[in-house]
Amino acid sequence: MWDVMYGMSPRFFFTHTPDVPLHTRLFRTRVRLAISFTRLHVWCSIPGRIGLRHGMCAASGGARWCGRLADICGNKQKKAVGMKVGLIGCGNISRAYLLNGKVFKQSSICKCADLKMEAAQARASEFGMEAMSVDQLLADDEIEAVLNLTTPESHVSVNMAALEAGKHVYCEKPFALNREDGRKVMQLAESKGLRVGCAPDTFLGGGHQMCRKLVSGGLIGKVVSGVAFMMCHGHESWHPAPGFYYRNGGGPLFDMGPYYITALVNILGPVKRVCAMSTRSTDLRAGLKVNAGKTFPVEIDTHVTALLEFSSGAFITLITSFDVWKHSNLPNIELYGTDGSLHVPDPNCFNGQISLFKGGLSSDWAPIDNVFRYNDNMRGIGLADMCDAIRLGRRHRCCGELAFHVLDVMCSICDSAETGCFTDVASACEQPAPLDERLTEGKLDLE
Ligand SMILES: NC(=O)c1ccc[n+]([C@@H]2O[C@H](COP(=O)([O-])OP(=O)(O)OC[C@H]3O[C@@H](n4cnc5c(N)ncnc54)[C@H](O)[C@@H]3O)[C@@H](O)[C@H]2O)c1
Repeated sequence: MWDVMYGMSPRFFFTHTPDVPLHTRLFRTRVRLAISFTRLHVWCSIPGRIGLRHGMCAASGGARWCGRLADICGNKQKKAVGMKVGLIGCGNISRAYLLNGKVFKQSSICKCADLKMEAAQARASEFGMEAMSVDQLLADDEIEAVLNLTTPESHVSVNMAALEAGKHVYCEKPFALNREDGRKVMQLAESKGLRVGCAPDTFLGGGHQMCRKLVSGGLIGKVVSGVAFMMCHGHESWHPAPGFYYRNGGGPLFDMGPYYITALVNILGPVKRVCAMSTRSTDLRAGLKVNAGKTFPVEIDTHVTALLEFSSGAFITLITSFDVWKHSNLPNIELYGTDGSLHVPDPNCFNGQISLFKGGLSSDWAPIDNVFRYNDNMRGIGLADMCDAIRLGRRHRCCGELAFHVLDVMCSICDSAETGCFTDVASACEQPAPLDERLTEGKLDLE
């Protein structure tokens, strides 16, 4: 019993610093865990944590820590200057990005454009920006990066135009509609020495950062399997123009799959092989509520069942569907490991319930508080991270390599559904670097 608890808690509390609000949250976490396991844990976890923190100074971790301190001191000279960003695509989701621009000063969205000038003008007057045509924005020397929030079929053409114009680009998901187009964007960016970033950035939220930390720390042992369910009845009851969700590049897999697959890659690493089946319930969707009376032609499959084999060895069952009216509280994501089970929050959100069942100790799920920042809707944090990464010369987290791998996984799922065969995923990517739990509001780097 002592070994189990001692082994778990130092890893769990590995990098905590003695700042007061964090400690308050930590204390809650430890007490909650203790309630679900045994009282002994409370007493075991304290020496474990102190011992490790002392150990860090002397042992190999100390060098890493000192190196980071040196980095921080060195970077103190550089002043934070927000990168000037031009927005293309002033629709539904642009509002969230513009609102969160107030939290993250690494980027400054100052000009905007849309195929529909009235859409650009509406956002410009709401957020104090300058509205212009797409061509004018791309030719504007003040703009260093383009935020591409157009609908999926325009993602690649707008990304390519932005890169051709010498600007970094960050786009909404999906990265592209096929591998060839995704590759074209990556190659152009590389040849021009420019950055490509892509949503989703929800995995940078506190909930998913905490799960990453727990799994990396070995809390549930080796992840053997898991499930991921995104099942609903589509977006035609609330989105003002939902047609694109039923065209190529939409559907539950390309629309919602990026959240789930990216969240899983963040925690588990890349996917090696997939198999899948897919179908659609109808060729014509009837609009509901705000779209009552309208119909939308369906060009893609709206129910996709897939099995993903990760390079780590984990098998994950993923179902994405726009053909389910209701289900009985199936989890968004759950991971099953050799030492326990972890309930992971909705990957379309930045926070949510994290629950743990520790094998041999728990009698039921126990809630876990997360110690990370960014638990509200922080869409745009990935763009801010890319701008910070450019300034500091580090890798950005929502990077093209990750987005391309996620695209490759989705294309492989479609290939497998079509051929009825297992499909190897040719690409791989590194897990994005975790965020540091000591970050202060609006920051993505310790500096
Ligand atoms: N709406 C959401 O809640 C949401 C959430 C997360 C991600 N997204 C993603 O964000 C993207 C946009 O979604 P949305 O809901 O804002 O769509 P939307 O239809 O509301 O807005 C898209 C805007 O882009 C413009 N546009 C399209 N092609 C263009 C082009 N080539 N050049 C310039 N402007 C162009 C359209 O005129 C429109 O104003 C999609 O990829 C979607 O998957 C949406």
